Amino acid sequence: MAQKTLAAALALVAVLGALAAEAKAPTLPKTVTVDLPKGLDFYAGPGADAINNNCLACHSRDMVLNQPSMPKAAWEAEVAKMRNVYKAPVAEKDVPAIVDYLVRVKGAK
Ligand code: HEC
Repeated sequence: MAQKTLAAALALVAVLGALAAEAKAPTLPKTVTVDLPKGLDFYAGPGADAINNNCLACHSRDMVLNQPSMPKAAWEAEVAKMRNVYKAPVAEKDVPAIVDYLVRVKGAK
């Protein structure tokens, strides 16, 4: 009996000690730097900056480039869908350069 009580007391001390240690050293957020692998941007060319700056926040380049080749109207609709349905924060002024880029690399008649 005394042994059980002693064991319970020791366990309690251990738990309280752990809690006290945690209270003394709170976990603080810290800034870390992550180097993402290179080569995941859209390929260089006219309009590459516009598409890199606007179209990589939610999915990869390959998500876009693995789509079938499509005519200009379809790419315009695709960019509009990203903006209107998925709320992609793409400035109106960047849309023509993005569409031209897409038509150049994945265009179809
Ligand atoms: C705010 C987030 C967001 C941004 C920014 C964004 N997209 Fe998307 N995109 C999505 C989502 C969500 C899907 C659907 C993913 C899925 O089905 O798994 C998608 C899918 C796609 C697809 C696949 C076809 C489809 O309609 O599902 C293409 C192509 C595409 N995006 C192009 C673009 C282009 C071009 C841009 C830049 C103008 C862009 N996205 C920016 C969220 C975004």
